[in-house]
Amino acid sequence: MTLIDARSIPADPLSATRLEEAGFDYRLVGMDDPVAAGAFTQAVNRGFLGPAATDDEITWTAETWKARRNVGVYETGAAADALPVATLNSWVAPATVPGGQIPMWAISVVTVAATHRRRGIARNLLEGELRAAVATGVPIAGLTVSEATIYGRYGFGAAIPAARIAIDTGRAGWAGPREEGRLEYVAGEQLASDLGEVHERSRANRSGQIPGWETRWKTMAGLAAEEGKKNAGARGVRYLDADGELRGVMAYSMADQPGTFRSVLKIAHLAAQTDEAMRALWGFAVNHDLVTRVEVDLRPIDDPIVHLVADQRAVELTVHDHGWLRILDVPAALEARRYEGPAEAVVQVEDQYGFAAGTWQVRIGADGVASVLPSDADPDVTLGVADLSAAYAGGVPLAQLAAAGRVRGDARVIGALSRALRSGRAPLLGIWY
Ligand SMILES: CC(C)(COP(=O)(O)OP(=O)(O)OC[C@H]1O[C@@H](n2cnc3c(N)ncnc32)[C@H](O)[C@@H]1OP(=O)(O)O)[C@@H](O)C(=O)NCCC(=O)NCCS
Repeated sequence: MTLIDARSIPADPLSATRLEEAGFDYRLVGMDDPVAAGAFTQAVNRGFLGPAATDDEITWTAETWKARRNVGVYETGAAADALPVATLNSWVAPATVPGGQIPMWAISVVTVAATHRRRGIARNLLEGELRAAVATGVPIAGLTVSEATIYGRYGFGAAIPAARIAIDTGRAGWAGPREEGRLEYVAGEQLASDLGEVHERSRANRSGQIPGWETRWKTMAGLAAEEGKKNAGARGVRYLDADGELRGVMAYSMADQPGTFRSVLKIAHLAAQTDEAMRALWGFAVNHDLVTRVEVDLRPIDDPIVHLVADQRAVELTVHDHGWLRILDVPAALEARRYEGPAEAVVQVEDQYGFAAGTWQVRIGADGVASVLPSDADPDVTLGVADLSAAYAGGVPLAQLAAAGRVRGDARVIGALSRALRSGRAPLLGIWY
């Protein structure tokens, strides 16, 4: 898949004009300039309520952000080292969809200074990103969110739910098989490299995944400048199959329970290319001596852990929204994925921004391939772009959205479309971005 370099796309002219009228300078920020990179990083840390960044942290972060299109909003006429009052960055990532991949405009580090909130700056930033993606021909946008109420207004839908899982190990027992491969401890650079390798090899297995990046894995392995203290206790274990091939890896830490000689095992990331590796890594965590509880987030909602323990009630599983998607080009998005069954419908999509608005004849064959053409016919199904986007990755049933009154039309057609859109395995986005 050829992916456009988002850095080559200039700042959106309409947002630039609107922000200029409000007294702001909206522009791309180069991370090669240490002063600009420093100010940008400090603004992001401040926006997410973190401490001021050290020089090492700035260098570390800038390495990752050099590959992204960084956008800053400054007071007009601000000094060269002034902090931007708003930040955001984006890049084009290949996102896994059922049966394939699609270029996705990924958006990150959206912050507006607390001194400048509720003046329309975030709106201009987000709308500018959507226009930039459309101008570039990227069919969907995606992000992960700090609050679930911010992005629906721009047409994003919560598409990739995640499970937060906690296991009472004293009660759980182990009912899983014993695997033929072997577990071994791994640390530091090797752990970071294994996390990246297994994630990359496994990300095609689940709709919703995108590639990670080096500093993300190093942070999980306890090597990050900015989070050195937080992840200083990072440990790792990997699983090699019977042929000695790396198939899974887990980064975790232990949180001491004072006065008990017991700990909580907190999994930072569990990546597995095979179910066998996933079972082996779960077994390592759940059967660990001196551990009373295992905690992890960002697992798929169909994680088989409930069937790996003897007592299902030892497992608390909380589902929450995680990956948000926004369809920008309906035919390109719908034709990029495969479907679980045939369906035929005239679908009307409402989009106040117009990008995805229209009526489409959607034909899905028995082979799971869709063709999507503009149509003048009366719609069988009508829905907003946020709801189509929510159902797109295969994790949110269209029928569930219809039951909530968000999708209207012929119940039989909605049922068939709903079944076609579901993915065989629940989608997963194993990282924040
Ligand atoms: C969230 C944030 C980016 C909003 O910036 P902002 O410039 O104040 O937002 P705007 O003035 O452009 O508001 C746009 C819309 O979003 C709404 N909105 C703003 N902040 C919101 C929040 N925290 N929750 C829900 N809605 C919010 C506004 O009410 C407005 O709605 P409307 O235009 O439909 O009436 C900013 O508050 C922030 O930086 N927060 C801390 C960092 C963060 O959470 N970033 C998001 C990362 S995913």
